Amino acid sequence: MTVKHLQILHHHNSSTDQNFEKDGHDVIQGLQNNPKILPPKYFYDDRGSELFEQICDLPEYYPTRTEAWILKEYADEIVAITGSCELVELGSGSSTKTRYLLSAYQKAANLLTEVIPDAFSYIPIDVSGGILKTTVLDLQQKYPDLNIEGLIGTYQEALLHLGKNHLRSRMIFFLGSSIGNFNQAESNSFLNEASHALTKGDYFLLGIDLQKPKEILEAAYNDSQEVTAAFNLNMLAHLNWRFQGNFDLDLFKHQAIYNEVDCQIEMYLHAKSAHQVSLDILDLKVPFQSGESILTEISRKFNLEKIQAQLRSQGLETVKIWTDPQQWFGLVLCQV
Ligand code: AVI
Repeated sequence: MTVKHLQILHHHNSSTDQNFEKDGHDVIQGLQNNPKILPPKYFYDDRGSELFEQICDLPEYYPTRTEAWILKEYADEIVAITGSCELVELGSGSSTKTRYLLSAYQKAANLLTEVIPDAFSYIPIDVSGGILKTTVLDLQQKYPDLNIEGLIGTYQEALLHLGKNHLRSRMIFFLGSSIGNFNQAESNSFLNEASHALTKGDYFLLGIDLQKPKEILEAAYNDSQEVTAAFNLNMLAHLNWRFQGNFDLDLFKHQAIYNEVDCQIEMYLHAKSAHQVSLDILDLKVPFQSGESILTEISRKFNLEKIQAQLRSQGLETVKIWTDPQQWFGLVLCQV
């Protein structure tokens, strides 16, 4: 089946891609680093994306359902503030939570008394073409009054592609506290890139996981069904496939700890015994000592005052903040 309005901005996922090998430089660097570190982007092959969807439904993993609750509760209020606009979602995935927003915008589109072409449009952006294609097809049927155009690519590629030249007002949104997977410097350059695709009066909507007791956080990343462990270990399987490696998943153990100084969850894979791993495509041999760890992800937990200051330093002023009754998760709406 072909999908109207789906554009590919890159080809990084294809095995024939020239960037295929170039991609591995971060793996070489990270595994030669002391302590060892791997970029979280390697979580997301097909299996990894599937495991992440399962994580979102786990009883211990509160962020997804808490953010969904906030969106459901306050979608009409968001629409009332922004009015008709072009909605750009970074890392849209299956756009599950976004549907609360889309329904509210669709309702507003139905209430328009005059015909304004493309008064409401939705541009989901994701690196995974497979998920995006299915999602766009489904959304086009569900929201016939919205103009939906998917972009397959990275945030950087998409933001550059979109540029500043939009006629209607625009709202870029980044949900799920994915900004927490960037360190401070990375999140600054991300916000800078995002604000470059916005003009005065445009909006930016950000979902952030808030600081809370260590026990709740550690349970969310060390779930009893061990789905998060499988998700973490799957990164090694992905590297094996992608770079002809021989990581033995049985020789590694998952652990997530909350670092209370830096206010971040840190996910590790610990080697259970001393051994060596090779990644043939990268011409790399990696020795592991018993107990040695690889840091695979940080997930920062935010403070509302501090994030507002960071947003403001990028020209994004807070318009309104919504949270759940426990104040576990926050949704920050800013304006340029
Ligand atoms: C995608 N990201 C916001 C998730 C998080 O909570 O940091 C990824 C994740 N890692 C383990 N569980 C979920």
